[in-house]
Amino acid sequence: MVTGFDPHTFDLRNVPAGYIADPYPYLADLRKNAPVHRNPDGTYVLTRYDDLVSVYRDPKLWSSDKRADFGPKFGPDAPLFEHHTTSVVFIDPPDHTRIRKLFQFAFTRKALAAFEPRISKLVDGYLDQLEDQGRMEVVDELSFRLPIEVVADMLGVPGEDRMLIREWAVAILTALEPELTQAQQEAGNAAVVEFKNYLRDLIRRRRARPEQAAPTEVLTVLADAEADGEKLSAIELLHQCIFMLNAGHETSTNMISHGVHEMLRNPGEILRLNENPDLIEPMVEEVLRFQAPIQINNRRSTGDCALSGVDLPAGSTVHMIVAAANRDPAQFPDPDRFDINRRPNRHLSFALGIHICAGNALARLEAQIAFRKLFARFPTLALEAPAKIANRLRFREIIELRITRG
Ligand code: HEM
Repeated sequence: MVTGFDPHTFDLRNVPAGYIADPYPYLADLRKNAPVHRNPDGTYVLTRYDDLVSVYRDPKLWSSDKRADFGPKFGPDAPLFEHHTTSVVFIDPPDHTRIRKLFQFAFTRKALAAFEPRISKLVDGYLDQLEDQGRMEVVDELSFRLPIEVVADMLGVPGEDRMLIREWAVAILTALEPELTQAQQEAGNAAVVEFKNYLRDLIRRRRARPEQAAPTEVLTVLADAEADGEKLSAIELLHQCIFMLNAGHETSTNMISHGVHEMLRNPGEILRLNENPDLIEPMVEEVLRFQAPIQINNRRSTGDCALSGVDLPAGSTVHMIVAAANRDPAQFPDPDRFDINRRPNRHLSFALGIHICAGNALARLEAQIAFRKLFARFPTLALEAPAKIANRLRFREIIELRITRG
């Protein structure tokens, strides 16, 4: 528990000074003493594992539609409003079912197996650079590069444009933070407009030269669905591509950065992994549990209900704090211990239910290959400086992580 912290006065839009550096003691206090906490703005903050599970499992009662929340936040004509109320993650059935079905093909076991050699080759290249230089800034030189390459390949975005996407993604996803400055709002709106123009142009070029469009690229498949006239509208097409490009790298980047960071803070775990390489799968799950890349999800109730004995009226917005649920001692014994052989490990980092992360198997594959190769090849890696953590609540982001070969 944190001295001087009163969970009953917690405000997600104005968190205590120490929260960004280490949110977990605050969340433990909330989970224990105010698990369904009424935020000063009238929304609710949920921190118990069982409450999050029951919300994820009931999409009729708990809607993902964000129009009521984002109308006042962005303005109903803002590009950010259009994006965050059209992408698959923030809509309900039947539209959600129709759209999710269109890109499921990209995440089948067979489709992912085809990516494996490419991921291995990319990782080997980054590690060769570490070998040569003796040190690495992990975010720029490994954890951002790998997922952006993979998701851009998956969609069919040209290699030279991938850096553009990074900036747009940060601006668009930062707009999901509970509290926004005017400058952040403007940057997010500009990024949506530029991203849409970019994709429109790319789709137009693909249509003009269909022989250049690989049939397995998500962009091509979604563009064909839009041309079909019924499966996808033109605006839906653009926003699914934007969402997929953003979702496919921002979170995975943070997963990889946190994985390297946690292992270096717990060098005994590197030894354990190298002695027993089969631990790679539970290790990746533990990284995901311990530092959930997406710390908060949201839903809005469509009817009256109760959680942990607290009555919530219809129309309540809940902040589901995945970061707190993932450390709920009722589900995870000794939850603040980083244990690469934790089993079972039913963390909620990919959510649950109908919106469960479509790319979870891809993200896991990237992490397993990256960590296995990194720690086997460089067992004596060390931190060169403390990691720098971004001032964001929803996404737990490392912005700089310097390591040496040791
Ligand atoms: C560590 C990496 C990742 C994490 C932690 C993560 C987390 C999540 C979470 C929590 C959701 C559900 C949000 C909600 O229910 O409100 C989600 C949805 C989604 N994710 Fe991921 N994600 C990751 C990687 C990826 C990748 C690599 C891709 C694609 C290449 C991807 C594509 C998607 C899609 C398409 C959805 C929307 C699913 C739907 O609404 O039906 N994600 N992700």
